[in-house]
Amino acid sequence: MTRSRLGSAELIELVDRHSAHNYHPLPVVVADAEGAWVTDVEGKRYLDLLAAYSALNFGHRHPDLIRAAKEQLDRVTLTSRAFHHDLFGPFCEELAALCGMDMVLAMNSGAEAVETAIKTARRWGYDVKGVPEGRAKIVVCDGNFHGRTITIVGFSSDPSATAGFGPFTPGFVSVPYGDIEALATALEDPDVVGFLVEPIQGEAGVIIPPDGYLPQASRLCSERNVLLIADEIQTGLGRVGTTFACEHEGVVPDVYLLGKALGGGILPVSAVVSRADVLGVFRPGEHGSTFGGNPVACAVGLEVLRLLRTGEYQQRSKDLGGWFLRRLREEAPTSVKEVRGRGLWFGIDLTPRAAPARAVCERLLELGILAKDTHEATVRLAPPLVVSRGDMEWALDRIVDALAERA
Ligand SMILES: Cc1ncc(COP(=O)(O)O)c(C=O)c1O
Repeated sequence: MTRSRLGSAELIELVDRHSAHNYHPLPVVVADAEGAWVTDVEGKRYLDLLAAYSALNFGHRHPDLIRAAKEQLDRVTLTSRAFHHDLFGPFCEELAALCGMDMVLAMNSGAEAVETAIKTARRWGYDVKGVPEGRAKIVVCDGNFHGRTITIVGFSSDPSATAGFGPFTPGFVSVPYGDIEALATALEDPDVVGFLVEPIQGEAGVIIPPDGYLPQASRLCSERNVLLIADEIQTGLGRVGTTFACEHEGVVPDVYLLGKALGGGILPVSAVVSRADVLGVFRPGEHGSTFGGNPVACAVGLEVLRLLRTGEYQQRSKDLGGWFLRRLREEAPTSVKEVRGRGLWFGIDLTPRAAPARAVCERLLELGILAKDTHEATVRLAPPLVVSRGDMEWALDRIVDALAERA
């Protein structure tokens, strides 16, 4: 086994010197990982309560996923879409079936799935809805996070995502998240082709919209002949106690966007999943990606779908998440303003006096827990769905202690 002989401090110094400073990571250098736990280069263990923003829903190195990837590495790794390979059809069929849809457009990163959905909605708007060419609009929500391309950051309401990066792509209208009246007004415009929404806003701090918002949004979208595009890249595939967050509200969108956990924490796999009348708008040569739907992605993706069909991970998320949310609310010290959660996904808002959330995450790191702040005042937890109740009990004590130190 090759192993770095440098310590954490030296390795972080290398990153500071030679990587663009586009992230501000906590000072931990992971060398090994298994299940819900990681080990740093000095041998200290940490419970991972971020799970790579839900890309590690099945934990680090889930044995079935690793086996699927290794077996595929010994067969064929890449064909490009210039040719077929033997797992692409089965992967698309099974993913479409999981979503109750007909078709899949496979990409790699989450941002690529979002970009693909924007192209899909625009083309559908011109070809099917009959919007005059060049006029299509997509409604998005304030506080959204859908990725980092120029088009996507162009409709972000976070100044750190946009400042200094314009000019941006036109054709987007933003409305307050959870405000059904504002959405209804925006959808009155006949040029609107899609409503792109996170069923729960992740990066914004695990913001859950009011009950009934998604069903009402879904009804408005069908009345106005607008595609409801659910970005389930972070909420989907078991995170919130159901396969999709939309399911919780009894909503079936027109388009699902999936990513993160679809690649089993091994490689980037994303997809747009929809009906044939929507994804059928693409003709050869109009969209694609060299690595989209590659054999290793499909091998891992098929295994992810098999794990999801057991229902075990959704159930764990629901049971363990419900219990943890109750306990966290009961034990939250006065430094905590609000605790939100659904399934194994939590946003802990600090009072202005107790902020910044980064300091809590730094303290948690010392206590052996990986968690991540979002914005100034929210600590976000997204444990792998394989985490044990014992581990979560252990974590709860430390989280409450770290929060109490700021009370
Ligand atoms: C809801 C949502 N959409 C899209 C993305 C972008 O995914 P990626 O980082 O793989 O491009 C993210 C990433 O955090 C996300 O949370």
